[in-house]
Amino acid sequence: MQYIRFLKTPRFVYTKDRRSGVVSALITIASDLGDTFFFQDVALAVKLLDGKSWTSLPLSVTRYAWKAGMRTLKIELDFVIKQKEMFHRTAILSVSSEQTAADDLSQSRAAGPLVLSAYSSPFGLSGGTEAEGYVERRLIIGREKALPVWEETGESIARHIWDGGLALTVYLAQSILTSEINNKGKRLDALDKILGLPGDLEVLELGSGCGIVGLALASLYKNCHVTLTDLPLAEEIIFKNLECSGLHGNINFKPLDWDQNIPENLTAKPIGLIVVADCTYNASSAPSLVRVLAELSSRSPGAVILLAHKRRHDSEDVFFQLMDESFQKIEQIQRALGTYSNEEATNVDIYIFQLS
Ligand SMILES: C[S@@+](CC[C@H](N)C(=O)[O-])C[C@H]1O[C@@H](n2cnc3c(N)ncnc32)[C@H](O)[C@@H]1O
Repeated sequence: MQYIRFLKTPRFVYTKDRRSGVVSALITIASDLGDTFFFQDVALAVKLLDGKSWTSLPLSVTRYAWKAGMRTLKIELDFVIKQKEMFHRTAILSVSSEQTAADDLSQSRAAGPLVLSAYSSPFGLSGGTEAEGYVERRLIIGREKALPVWEETGESIARHIWDGGLALTVYLAQSILTSEINNKGKRLDALDKILGLPGDLEVLELGSGCGIVGLALASLYKNCHVTLTDLPLAEEIIFKNLECSGLHGNINFKPLDWDQNIPENLTAKPIGLIVVADCTYNASSAPSLVRVLAELSSRSPGAVILLAHKRRHDSEDVFFQLMDESFQKIEQIQRALGTYSNEEATNVDIYIFQLS
């Protein structure tokens, strides 16, 4: 999966004698780690949107071309505005691939968009000030079901969406809509079973980052109560996402460090489902992550673990070796992210584990 990112968030500069202004920004298209740049040509639609409305027509649209081999792309968009209108208005800059009408993760024929669109924070049209350092992903996860997820524009590991989280969100979005999954064919029967049980399902997510998977679960499955957990450094972006989600009541956040004792009152009820996405990249964290999974599972007998893993390095095998000692692998499927070219697809493995 490739992500459009703001290296410099947009700002508007007004030229009085021309009675117009320029919105400028610097973007890149890169992998979740930011270590590789998108190596295909892609036509981009750059839109200036009203800062207060998701649905109104764009104030201005320009086309740009991202070419294979590029690392950055400078955006400059002319915008005519009357001086007296400038002071009340805010705008948002969106950048998306022209092939992606919307970032619709629920389309069962597709494995999600290859290039994820970026929406800036609202910025003033009175001039000069840069938009705050956030980027919004406007994801569609069901029929008329939108999921806004904010990330930071900086380099933080926790405050970004990762391919593992995105692949799991695609899987959840598609599995609730279709009786069969077309991308590589298989469904997770054990997950269907637990999500189909009567009564409320208590879900705990470890290393939730921005919260994409837990938010999608809480939005798609109304009989879930989700507790997102991560290190305290993720708290601010998670609270921003909880606030924007409109999901009140069935999702909350608690700090949890795998290297510390697990608080007794983490969830109100025994946990039925533990979710872990893209948390297995760091071999040195594997023993503490497995310990936390084992302790949570023995506190909540019968709990099922749903784990998404994007293989980045051989050293990650240690996590699975440690899991084998205490857990049974119930199911495994593979999902490919990216629809336009097999060469660019990202494979993510999704597992179901349970304490042996
Ligand atoms: C690569 S990110 C994945 C984020 C999210 N699950 C996703 O897929 O978008 C890994 C997450 O694990 C969290 N993490 C790493 N070490 C941790 C620890 N010792 N205790 C709790 N969380 C930890 C990080 O803060 C980060 O949010």
